[in-house]
Amino acid sequence: MGEWRAEWITHDTGPAGPGRRPVVHFRRQFAVSRDIRATLRITAHGIYQGFLDGVRIGDHELAPGYTEYGSRLQVQEFALDLHAGEHCLAVELSDGWYRGQVGLYRHADQWGTQTALLAQLDGDGVDVATDKAWQARAADHTADLIAGECIDLRSLDGWQHPGYDDSGWEPVAVEQRGYETLVPQEAPPVRRIEELAPRSIRRLGDRQIIDFGQNVAGWTRLARLGPRGTELTLTHAEALTPEGDVTQVNLAPDIPALGVKLPAGQVDTVISAGPGSSFEPRHSTRGFRYLAVDGLDDDLEAQDVTAVVVHSDLPRTGWFTCSDPSLNALHEAAVWSFRGNAIDIPTDCPVRERAGWTGDWQIFVPTAAYLYDVADFSAKWLRDLAAGQWPDGTIGNFAPMPRGEGRESPGAFMNGSAGWGDAAIIVPWELYRAYGDPAVLEESWPMMLRWIGRVRELAETGRHASRTGPVQPHERYLWDSGFHFGEWLVPEPSGDFDFGELMAADKGDTATAYYRHSTRLLSQIAAVLGREEQAAAFAELAQRIRSAWQREYLVDGRVQPATQANCVRALAFDLVDDPAPVVQQLVELIEAAGDHLATGFLATPYLLPVLAEHGRADVAFRLLQQRSWPSWLGMIEQGATTMWERWEGYDASGMPFESHNHYSKGAVISFLHRHVAGIRPVEPGYRRFSVQPVMGGGLGHAEGRLVTPLGEIVSVWELSESRFELSVTVPAGATAEVVLPDGGRHEVAEGRHFFTASRQN
Ligand code: BGC
Repeated sequence: MGEWRAEWITHDTGPAGPGRRPVVHFRRQFAVSRDIRATLRITAHGIYQGFLDGVRIGDHELAPGYTEYGSRLQVQEFALDLHAGEHCLAVELSDGWYRGQVGLYRHADQWGTQTALLAQLDGDGVDVATDKAWQARAADHTADLIAGECIDLRSLDGWQHPGYDDSGWEPVAVEQRGYETLVPQEAPPVRRIEELAPRSIRRLGDRQIIDFGQNVAGWTRLARLGPRGTELTLTHAEALTPEGDVTQVNLAPDIPALGVKLPAGQVDTVISAGPGSSFEPRHSTRGFRYLAVDGLDDDLEAQDVTAVVVHSDLPRTGWFTCSDPSLNALHEAAVWSFRGNAIDIPTDCPVRERAGWTGDWQIFVPTAAYLYDVADFSAKWLRDLAAGQWPDGTIGNFAPMPRGEGRESPGAFMNGSAGWGDAAIIVPWELYRAYGDPAVLEESWPMMLRWIGRVRELAETGRHASRTGPVQPHERYLWDSGFHFGEWLVPEPSGDFDFGELMAADKGDTATAYYRHSTRLLSQIAAVLGREEQAAAFAELAQRIRSAWQREYLVDGRVQPATQANCVRALAFDLVDDPAPVVQQLVELIEAAGDHLATGFLATPYLLPVLAEHGRADVAFRLLQQRSWPSWLGMIEQGATTMWERWEGYDASGMPFESHNHYSKGAVISFLHRHVAGIRPVEPGYRRFSVQPVMGGGLGHAEGRLVTPLGEIVSVWELSESRFELSVTVPAGATAEVVLPDGGRHEVAEGRHFFTASRQN
């Protein structure tokens, strides 16, 4: 591939504000004298779609993807076959993440105030690259990732084809933006993955309401737009009002500091070009199960409207099914939540914030790795996380990090919370465990060191305001200063929290636990990387933090503050010498809550595992199969097809409450893979693994499959009146330890193996 000779080209889109800015059309006509194959390299500050002679180039959506644009911008490469003759290279360019609205605050212009295109076609006998010879216009089409799109289809005039007269267009402007930030495509691109037909279409007054039966992320395609000039409005939503109308009430950010409720967005307006015209937005995504179509007299039929599911095209690697249909439905909902939140980066939700929240991904990444190959997807995100790390080592709340919510924003103090910033260590470690490649550890090592350095400084120098009296020696190992989300969103009947209270609270229990956890992981990581001295130093520090945590938060062997979350962390992060009293305490807390969980964001993924691993699978299954609030199956019974952000998805009046598509609580399904099917990594990348199914919940059958770097692992079991039967498949190059419910242990290598045991009750 030759050097870059292309220049960055731009076109002024006029005064329109964020959310309503026009898409730019760029075109360049050229000729080749014989049939050739050429390579197109293309990227943009914004979102581009390229066309050769009117035909879409490639199948990437939302290209060039979302990265920390100030330091990293992906370039896509496509092979193009050009026949001798005239051609036209045409590009649509919209604001995308670069200049459009992003994040909770809907800030625009986060990486720049002007979109730009860079493209170069290399081949024998072709010399086309973006430069001042290109023509541009502002289209009769506006697009914003959050707001949605507005297009007059009558304005589509064949501009992407050779021979089109662009004499009324304007010459482009050329800008110096350099090539230093350019990197190749690093992860599977976003694509149109699947199409869903409507489950129902009905009228509510003049409005038509389409239910796709599944909450998804992507967009809709409408192939019946009425007579030429008809103006339609398409509103996308996750839920209905009790009266059956679509509502966006749960999607709009409501931030006290802003004083106004921001619009939810995801509304498209389209003007029909007459029979045969159809509309499919390609510059923005929406989170939705329902679509409301206003302005169309014709009755829509099933073939007229389609939901297009759009996300990163990750290879599926893991499956689970069992004899309990409601657990299968929960599993499906969690998978769909991940699919809805894997749009080039791992996001919290596909609607309200669409942000690469650190905490959410560290919570979910081990589960995601039981479902999809997320190695490259996460490695790309980690590079953005590292690129956005602050000079003092703080890890921003999300990656990429829009300026308006980052280091120089009024909310800067909210970055670097325990359990969120720790993603810098936990995510690379989980990737190493799942895929076995230490490169991700090596690459993230400097970021991890700087993060733990920052935490250490905060722990050693800070002290929570509520502490009085002389400073005790162990306090230098307590991380009880700075802002922390803490356990975050524990079930509360009021359904809300007091922000002032959150700011003032001492979250030292949670933060110190994470300080210990991350330090211990760092010691293990250092050992993997052959950094023996650092491994020993971090092990020592981890030990001191553990002692300090015990001194402060353990009374007579029991945890205080006595919350389920603190007990869970004590067990999951190996904070106590004697787990038995803490297990007992946790069970008591659960039973006192009527067999209900009381964990929020951080501890929920570990809740069932610690119970099962400490001999209380019975309690784990009771929580898993609980149906009253707060519970996973309660969500499913109320019709959730993706996981809700809160344990309650509707308020007392029946209106949807907060996001209906947050994967974090879906992390529970790793319990199905890891404990019910029993597939667990022992050595990184499943070179060695164990299969140790945990019985319970009245399950009579379960099956887990996982494609690992060495091949497919399968665990299938059946429980009859008297017998337990298990079949385990081990890929070549791997070994497994199989542990049967009766305690029997077997070592196995490549092949399919069958085991039976008598039923244990
Ligand atoms: C997001 C999260 C995130 C949290 C921080 C929310 O608004 O949606 O999922 O982790 O803020 O506590």
